[in-house]
Amino acid sequence: MTIANSRAWQALEEHAAAMRGQHLRELFAADSTRFPHLSLEVDGLLFDYSKQRLDAKTRTLLAALAEERQVKAWVECMFTGEPVNGSENRAALHTALRSSSTTPLCVDGHDVMPGIHASRARMRAFCDAVRSTQWRGFSGEPIRNIVNLGIGGSDLGPRMLTTALSAYTHPSLRVHYVSNIDAADLAPVLESLDPRTTLFVVASKTFTTLETLTNARTARAWLLSAAGNADDAAMARQFIAITANAAEALRFGIPPDNLFEFHDWVGGRFSLWSPVGLSLALAIGMEAFEQLLAGAEAMDKHFRTAPIEQNLPMLMALIGIWNINFLGAWNLSISPYSQSLRYLPDYLQQLDMESNGKSLTPDGTPVGVHTAPVLWGGAGSNTQHAYFQLLHQGGCLIPSDFIAFAESDYPLASHHEKLLSNCLAQAEALAFGNTHADPLRACAGNQPSSMLLLPRLDPFTLGQLIAAYEHKVCAQAAIWGINPFDQWGVELGKQLAARLLPAIESTHPDESLKTDASTAGLIAWLHSERKPA
Ligand code: F6P
Repeated sequence: MTIANSRAWQALEEHAAAMRGQHLRELFAADSTRFPHLSLEVDGLLFDYSKQRLDAKTRTLLAALAEERQVKAWVECMFTGEPVNGSENRAALHTALRSSSTTPLCVDGHDVMPGIHASRARMRAFCDAVRSTQWRGFSGEPIRNIVNLGIGGSDLGPRMLTTALSAYTHPSLRVHYVSNIDAADLAPVLESLDPRTTLFVVASKTFTTLETLTNARTARAWLLSAAGNADDAAMARQFIAITANAAEALRFGIPPDNLFEFHDWVGGRFSLWSPVGLSLALAIGMEAFEQLLAGAEAMDKHFRTAPIEQNLPMLMALIGIWNINFLGAWNLSISPYSQSLRYLPDYLQQLDMESNGKSLTPDGTPVGVHTAPVLWGGAGSNTQHAYFQLLHQGGCLIPSDFIAFAESDYPLASHHEKLLSNCLAQAEALAFGNTHADPLRACAGNQPSSMLLLPRLDPFTLGQLIAAYEHKVCAQAAIWGINPFDQWGVELGKQLAARLLPAIESTHPDESLKTDASTAGLIAWLHSERKPA
């Protein structure tokens, strides 16, 4: 039986038919208790979903769907190390990475908790050594710049949080993130750095990712050409790797003492809590990094124990399913009203779309309904002057998540209140629109949104926020019956790129290359353009 034939789904279909015609103006007019009844506060984080196109009955029916799909049992399996990543026969224990508990947690009969605590202690020792200038480069100079080389999950989370928490960054350390194989990413960074004071952190679970390895090789050559005959010292002092593939990292020339473990039971896009967060921890210090873990752990406890209708990530998941599957809204706009959180949409894109952009259940049968939304967004208030026009009058149903902080992370007078008023005004305008007599100026409203308000932007609150989104994605996967922890779809493009590379590298078009006429024509054009004049 597919999900769409289930009793809870059918009940939601019927209910949706009645709700689709309702405007948020009417829903608010009919119920003065909407805000208290359709909002929730968890450890200081306020989640207001009263501007979603739903009512208390919708919530009850959605909770019944979650019950029917046995989401709570799935969540328990995830937390306890069961192999919830079926296609790779692995556990998904990102929650253990932020756990302060010492209670044994076994994967394949082996307690992973001592290793997690030991790894955190190693991170602390290393961060303290670099930040206190005790750890120095090959020439004896202190480290001033850190370059994180990684892509996808080995880049987006730490990059987003390093930017978000820049107010916490060590004054003499600058952390750079290089991910793109395009030389335009790495080259300007190297040009601005001194090889004697630069530390490279190569983050790659597989240690085979083309982009990361290409950048790491170029960085190694750059460093070693400056180190002269001190090349062993340069690698020992200035190249660190975080990987599940120690053999490849050693072959690359990373000394064994410089390896941090990336466990195979952590998915790349869920890994920022592990040593993958090392560059972030170097930037903000291990104490702040542990605050981030504490915030995430607080959200984990809430997610694991709160009843569905009072469970923040579960509600986020169910509201997403309501919008996608019952109201037909396949987009999700993410609007952090925080310049510091400007990379949040990029990070959430991978988290949501790489996890749930799937249409088959693990046994290969079609899910039969839409899954992950097309997720995009940017920092408000900039976005108001870019694409918000379409949200107000474009005629497509596009739900939004607004995220804002009561206090500013930068103390410039009179900015923050204006930022907040814009955030609240946009959510209000989207929901209620106006009834202007001139149709060109009329805004239909009825665009749903949720508002996440936090007291301030700090490591703890960001830990809560990110963990809430992780759990949202996992709960949705459990409901749709897909595996959020694999990503087979990205493999095909990687294989084809490897096949096309020799034809693009060669100085002559390769007649024997078996490819389609379009790709062959494009390669031929590139060859003609790249010929020396
Ligand atoms: O894009 C595919 C992917 O495998 C992501 O899931 C992962 O985060 C990224 O590539 C980087 O992989 P790795 O850490 O193995 O270099």
